[in-house]
Amino acid sequence: MARRVPSEGPTATRTGSRALWRPVAGAALLAFLAGCAKDAPQDYLDPEGPIATEAHHMFSRIFWFAVIPVLVLVQGLLIASIVRHRQRRGRADPLEPAGRVARLRWVVVPTLVLLFLDLFPLAGEAKTIFELAREPKGDVLQVEVYGHMWWWEYIYPEQKISSANELHIPTGRPVRLTLRTIEPGLPAPEGAEFAQGVIHSFWVPKLAGKQDVVPGRDNKLTIEADEPGTYKGQCAEYCNLSHANMRLRVIAQEPADFEAWVAEQKRPAAKPASGPAAEGYEIFTGKGGCMACHTVVGIEGANARVGPNLTHLKSRETFAGAIFENTAANLTEWVKDPGAMKPMRPDEGTGMPDRGLSDEEVDKVVAYLETLK
Ligand code: CUA
Repeated sequence: MARRVPSEGPTATRTGSRALWRPVAGAALLAFLAGCAKDAPQDYLDPEGPIATEAHHMFSRIFWFAVIPVLVLVQGLLIASIVRHRQRRGRADPLEPAGRVARLRWVVVPTLVLLFLDLFPLAGEAKTIFELAREPKGDVLQVEVYGHMWWWEYIYPEQKISSANELHIPTGRPVRLTLRTIEPGLPAPEGAEFAQGVIHSFWVPKLAGKQDVVPGRDNKLTIEADEPGTYKGQCAEYCNLSHANMRLRVIAQEPADFEAWVAEQKRPAAKPASGPAAEGYEIFTGKGGCMACHTVVGIEGANARVGPNLTHLKSRETFAGAIFENTAANLTEWVKDPGAMKPMRPDEGTGMPDRGLSDEEVDKVVAYLETLK
């Protein structure tokens, strides 16, 4: 590929464009090669489950329809026409104004071609689009998904449980998500339970397409996994400060394992009898003020939804928008200075505040959090 670049171009412009050629080509090659990544966790071209697979088939059909007739045929005809009708000695000037009939032909023919190219694949795929959007039939699991700044809340209305960031689903069963955005940390308008949040977008590339989460609307999305596993996703709509730190996971389990998980999530948290965890419980419910934002089932009055439900915090692999591994060391750092780990605006009602606890108090609170399994 090594090509000799002349030290002096014939003109300044020429030199400029040559200097640009290599970085531009390099960037294009890098972008192209990035598409070759193996086992990428968020690769929508490697779908899992019936919904993402159907959407992927639709994408492939439209893609090949675009490549063969549009790229090959249209570009081919264009190049052939340029070559054939180029200016040559002894031939009429190709820039000569065309006659009325010719002009009309150049309006009508391309219009028909474009209409055909747009409508033909769309008409064929419309059925798939409507089918994927339709409420699934049969044994469907319903989950309400709430986008917060900057984490995800999941409420299972039938099971009467709630969790955060990691969405557990059973395999082989459609899961119908109702997507909403709320911000219980902000002042609610008169008559409303919560203030409405900003726009987010729920995206688990391997399981389904993207669906926006829009204030004042119940948007719907169906996901389904055939195989047990962890499917990574993220918020895909810019939602202010920590948009990039608003990830999520879908954890698909065999139906029996999922039912066992539900049963565990229903268990209220126990009050520790003694030791640092018991002291941490006192700080959690007292001077720490944690109940102002968090739910812990089993503690009287701890039912806020500003932050995640902590009843089974330690049953989750990650925390804070699925960005940190759920270890005691990370939780300690988090409670000490949350803003140092993730940009947030707690003074404006969004995000975890620094509670101003001493290191010793933080250790006790974390000892308590570690009991929330
Ligand atoms: Cu939520 Cu971006």
